[in-house]
Amino acid sequence: MDRVRLIDKDFGVFIAEKEIKEKVEALAGMINTDLEGEEVVFIGILNGSFMFAADLYRRTTLKSQLTFLKLASYSGTSSTGEVKKLIGLNEQIRGKTVVVIEDIVDTGRTLEDISIQLKEQGAAMVRIATLLLKPDAFRGSVRPDYVGFEIPNDFVVGYGLDYNGFGRNLPSVYKLIT
Ligand code: IMP
Ligand code: MG
Repeated sequence: MDRVRLIDKDFGVFIAEKEIKEKVEALAGMINTDLEGEEVVFIGILNGSFMFAADLYRRTTLKSQLTFLKLASYSGTSSTGEVKKLIGLNEQIRGKTVVVIEDIVDTGRTLEDISIQLKEQGAAMVRIATLLLKPDAFRGSVRPDYVGFEIPNDFVVGYGLDYNGFGRNLPSVYKLIT
């Protein structure tokens, strides 16, 4: 499928399934090498990262656990000073190496919130893996350590990412046709 329509918008293939697969394998290889001998907790950030997390995690060979966390949405209007709370952390991360798995880093605000909270919980080291990064939108201070693809400031869907809840099942990444 080169083109898909979701709700009221058209999207075209941007990163094909095969390219994603190769990149995911490469990222897992780097993580396996960098974190060899360490006990790791992988944390997928829901909902968007579920597919990337599943594919990345099955390529890792470390002694590790995988869990998923959700970020509570902003209550009311998204006031700038407010931190999105991470919910669902049951695994013990104190003293451990944590690898956060994100679908996409845009402004970097989400990543900053996550990283601060994981360190507050006592994580010894927090590494970030993201499939996609929009460097032109990025304004954060916490940089992802493992980046699949740097992309322009276009809205993308597929491979876990959604447009109003739709498109997560697409095996490739698609971008909005404008
Ligand atoms: P940030 O806090 O600005 O880095 O926002 C990151 C979050 O915004 C991601 O986890 C996504 O949920 C969402 N997001 C940003 N860009 C896109 C996109 O192009 N498609 C779908 N979701 C996006
Ligand atoms: Mg996300």
